[in-house]
Amino acid sequence: MATIALLVSAYLVGSLSFAVIVSRLFGLPDPRSYGSGNPGATNVLRTGHRAAAALTLVADAAKGWLVMAAALHYGPAWGLSDAWVAAAGIAVFLGHLFPVFFGFQGGKGVATAFGILLAVSPWLGLSVAGSWLITFAMFRISSLSALVAALFTPLFAALWLKPTFVGMVIILAALLVWRHKSNIRKLLRGEETGFGKPAPRPQ
Ligand code: G3P
Repeated sequence: MATIALLVSAYLVGSLSFAVIVSRLFGLPDPRSYGSGNPGATNVLRTGHRAAAALTLVADAAKGWLVMAAALHYGPAWGLSDAWVAAAGIAVFLGHLFPVFFGFQGGKGVATAFGILLAVSPWLGLSVAGSWLITFAMFRISSLSALVAALFTPLFAALWLKPTFVGMVIILAALLVWRHKSNIRKLLRGEETGFGKPAPRPQ
């Protein structure tokens, strides 16, 4: 029973799509209707509203951190194995990707994954953030930075985490890369939009 409660709660928290919620609060258009069509901080930033983008980033990361930190803290007391605790991390991530409150049209998971990783291991979170920042400093492309960070994440995870959580990280990274398939196509065509460039049509 505790496992079902944990996974359902994690999924529901993940389903809070803060790009859409924050945009409504700031009177901005729905991020699924412009730019890349992605409800995420990068696309919100294409409106030029930095505060809304920053709040989206922090809130999407915070929900991942909150669920993972709670599962790690209370899971053992509830008699849950590491596998169920790791499943909570996947559940909050799936909620972000397929939010029940927003027609299952969710984001690509970068900020939420960061929050989850930070809760599992601050060193892992900081290493992944570092690889994102280094790639971004070189290319100024958010999606490329996320993809490079996702590829490095399982390697970093193997350094610091137990095998069960390495498995969770591999699943998160694979889902994140899969959600970036339109970005990968645009990167290969040399058409990916960086920061400060005009927003492309939704796709
Ligand atoms: O956080 C999502 C980012 O990696 C790509 O966003 O809007 O450029 O598809 P976007």
